[in-house]
Amino acid sequence: MIAVSIARGRHRMVIAEHKHLVEQGAQLVELRVDYIVRSVDLKRLLTNRPCPVIVACRRPQDGGKWARSEDERRMLLRSAIADGVDYIDLEEDIAGTIPRFGKTKRIVSYHNFQETPANLREIYDRCASHDPDIVKIATMAHDPKDNLRVLQLIADSEIPTVAICMGDIGTASRILAGKFGAPFTYATFHQERELAPGQLSFDQMRSIYRYDDINPDTDVYGLIGDPIGTPLAPLMHNASFHAMKLDKVFVPFRVPREHLEPFLGYCRQFGLRGLIVNTPHKESIVPFLSATDREVDHIGAANTVVIDGFDRSGYNTEFKAALESIDATLGRGGEIDVLSGKTAIVLGAGGMAKAVAFALRSRDVHVAIASRTMERSQELAHKLNCRAVEWSSRHSQNAEIVVNCTPVGMHPHVDDSPFEGDYLRRSMIVFDTVYNPEQTLLIKRAREKQCYVVTGVDMFVRQSALQFERFAGQAASQEVMRQSLRKWIGAAKTSMAE
Ligand SMILES: NC(=O)c1ccc[n+]([C@@H]2O[C@H](COP(=O)([O-])OP(=O)(O)OC[C@H]3O[C@@H](n4cnc5c(N)ncnc54)[C@H](OP(=O)(O)O)[C@@H]3O)[C@@H](O)[C@H]2O)c1
Repeated sequence: MIAVSIARGRHRMVIAEHKHLVEQGAQLVELRVDYIVRSVDLKRLLTNRPCPVIVACRRPQDGGKWARSEDERRMLLRSAIADGVDYIDLEEDIAGTIPRFGKTKRIVSYHNFQETPANLREIYDRCASHDPDIVKIATMAHDPKDNLRVLQLIADSEIPTVAICMGDIGTASRILAGKFGAPFTYATFHQERELAPGQLSFDQMRSIYRYDDINPDTDVYGLIGDPIGTPLAPLMHNASFHAMKLDKVFVPFRVPREHLEPFLGYCRQFGLRGLIVNTPHKESIVPFLSATDREVDHIGAANTVVIDGFDRSGYNTEFKAALESIDATLGRGGEIDVLSGKTAIVLGAGGMAKAVAFALRSRDVHVAIASRTMERSQELAHKLNCRAVEWSSRHSQNAEIVVNCTPVGMHPHVDDSPFEGDYLRRSMIVFDTVYNPEQTLLIKRAREKQCYVVTGVDMFVRQSALQFERFAGQAASQEVMRQSLRKWIGAAKTSMAE
């Protein structure tokens, strides 16, 4: 179950949001009455309530907004119990002063916005000593392992326990709470109205992570990186898992650089069966892999890891996806390699440029690298046995293939292009790895000039489908992935316009 927190200043808004949430399928809401500006009218909030309610009234030290006296707050909490509210949330330091009454269930809670303390079990025992029906522990995560510590507390507790980590490092604990036995997790009414750092919205919990379907046997897959950015991989992979009725969930883990090695040591305890690897770990993860494919050996970077017991096998799907995307556009088939012997200019010298340039070199394409920072181009060119050219001379290379591996043209800078349209010629291959928007200015100009076109969406979907195949042992529905990516691109465009 998901407890959705409602925190509004006016009773009218609280009641309206409660009704709306129940229409959307919510089965439990937390009313944060500390947000109500005027004197709290519990009868108005609780009479004819459309679903069970937790009443919580937080002090500022617990992350709340209560501005009146502590006596008034305790009076309010007692009144909520007398009015027969379904659950009352009592902080552990006051729970002993407010006794059980009637049918109201007691949530005895502990909040720590600074850290996830070492003595979690002691804190649990303290909460457990105040006659709870449920123990709630919410702490700030600074280490990805904090997620595991709170989840293990849930699993080991005798009293039903909701234990979650706050902060963007803690998101995984919110999604996986149910897998470890928590009676519910918390979510916000809307993603732009988080009440605690790292909280997800009710809609994200349900439509992206399908929280209610997660159970002790659910296989977990993770995106690791830092920063984690917009987690598109969970969006696309969870949509595919759902479409194919697989008991698997994809979860984002922010893993700072220095935490990679320990994370790999304990990650199986989350139930993790596979990882998508993002910046800055693609290269640094390689020494920790027990097996690698040819592409990882070539590039020295892995973006996909399959975990089987203590084995970790690494793959690079960007390499393959780049070539498959070009081949699909050209309609490649038969014996003759139409790429072999062509000349390409690769714009950028970062991670994507490396994978694409390696892929092109593997098909005997003559590659020139152009990036703003000549040293980066030279370093990559040296590894690939190809040329580095000045950024300013990118148009004069007589290239038959142009690949943009820079962010130029990405939302919101949609009027920028890394390559002037005047230099595009018919039948050139133009590949823009930028996927937001799909139709970048470069792609539009290339279509006008009747070039062969490969978009960033083609590439992203293809590489995600290759990752999915590694994880699920069966082909993904590329259409489901494409639709979920396009839906996100559309939503991002709308929210930027607003
Ligand atoms: N379709 C897909 O599947 C997919 C997946 C991941 C990424 N991408 C795309 O690939 C792009 C690059 O990702 P990455 O991981 O390679 O990033 P990265 O490692 O940070 O490299 C970015 C490269 O772009 C250059 N650059 C940045 N801003 C520039 C500007 N304004 N003008 C010219 N060059 C500029 C950088 O040059 P300096 O070194 O001089 O800064 C660097 O060479 C992303 O922006 C994304 O759109 C696509």
